[in-house]
Amino acid sequence: MSTENRLKDWTPTSWQQKTTLQQPTYRDPAALERSVLELSRLPPIVVSWEVDALHRHLAKAQQGESFILQGGNCAESFDDCTSERVVEQLKILLQMSLVLAHGLKKRIIRVGRIAGQYAKPRSADMETKDGVTLPSYRGDIVNRAPFDAAAREPDPSLLLRGYERAALTLNFVRSLVEGGFTDLHHPEYWDLDFMRHSPKYEEYKRIASSVGDALTFFESITGRTVADAEQTNFYASHEGLHLHYEQAQTRFIARTQRWYNLSTHMPWIGVRTAALEHGHVEYFRGIANPIAVKVGPSADAAYLAELTRILNPERIPGRLTLLHRLGAKDIESKLPPMIEAVRASGAEVLWICDPMHGNTESTATGVKTRRFENILSEIESAFKVHAEMGSHLGGVHLELTGDNVTECTGGARGLSDHDLARAYRSTVDPRLNYEQALEVAMRIGRLSGARSLPTDSP
Ligand code: PEP
Ligand code: CO
Repeated sequence: MSTENRLKDWTPTSWQQKTTLQQPTYRDPAALERSVLELSRLPPIVVSWEVDALHRHLAKAQQGESFILQGGNCAESFDDCTSERVVEQLKILLQMSLVLAHGLKKRIIRVGRIAGQYAKPRSADMETKDGVTLPSYRGDIVNRAPFDAAAREPDPSLLLRGYERAALTLNFVRSLVEGGFTDLHHPEYWDLDFMRHSPKYEEYKRIASSVGDALTFFESITGRTVADAEQTNFYASHEGLHLHYEQAQTRFIARTQRWYNLSTHMPWIGVRTAALEHGHVEYFRGIANPIAVKVGPSADAAYLAELTRILNPERIPGRLTLLHRLGAKDIESKLPPMIEAVRASGAEVLWICDPMHGNTESTATGVKTRRFENILSEIESAFKVHAEMGSHLGGVHLELTGDNVTECTGGARGLSDHDLARAYRSTVDPRLNYEQALEVAMRIGRLSGARSLPTDSP
């Protein structure tokens, strides 16, 4: 069936006819409508040709030719929309990508969890504390974290505040990129104040200078500058959870005759909202962006075959990414049948490993954390399983920050449960700190499975 025919019954609002989970309940539906209308008139945050450019990069990653580094906060907060926080986030992703490019000998495509990662799925609609029951905190685009009635009331005007924060963030990132901040010739711009004290600093410096030497060598013998190295790409992604927000920024593009979600380059569906017959899958099937879906241990062969058929019936390379998040313990038994099921259905996807969300646990005192060794072990297993199955692991999806937080245990400094209290800042999931994130990149670079060449044989 042609795309046109297949999408005959799809509109940016057709999801509203389906059961849609994890949406806030607004007291005043007219106020929600006003916000959505205003949002739908404002200019887009990204443009369709950038979205198409990322799509082409993802298609290459699917072939094993490049590698996707997707990362950022579990949830962005409006208060963190400051120049320091945005620069910090950009710096750690740039440093990691330099280390990964050096280790994997592949082009690295950077995709931030940034400029729109404001809505969070929650296990319960309501939260009760000391006999008081209030709506759960669903992210800054919905309500506020403090446990009081006014803060927890879902407020539709926050959709506009989120849009503005996203636009400010991406505007700043674009200016930095265009101004030369991401130029591989100048990794010294990316230094973070505290990194000099890090046990990983010397190794990072060695890698950075070896990349610099390689660039100088190439440029001196060819007489050309490596243009790609000057203007390095950077894309935005977020969980497309709040469907009124996504819908309002969905625009018809005459050039391609398709609808694009122009709130971000690459939205994804979270594991809790990915039921085939529900609103999120309905909305995502109609947009032309490259899209991703989180898949957990319960994704069986029938589900995967149907999911890939609904979301990518034409089997367009780069269109559909599956972000597997299985946990260090289960990945070696759960991933092979998943790869097999997708292959047997005739679908082709880009596989990316999210080693964070299957490895969340609580300490004895109830603090949410993740162990560095489990995160690393899930990544190692992912490379190994894909290589053994003649598949490619095309990227990693991480929750990280360029800040010096203590939220995940382990890593070069051997953070213990005890250390978590020192600098735990996340309002939701625990993130790798600067040093742990860099160490992950270094360890990936050293994995032999990670460097295996693309192969056609199963
Ligand atoms: C997340 O990415 O923060 C998240 C909620 O993940 P998942 O959908 O995999 O649970
Ligand atoms: Co998270």
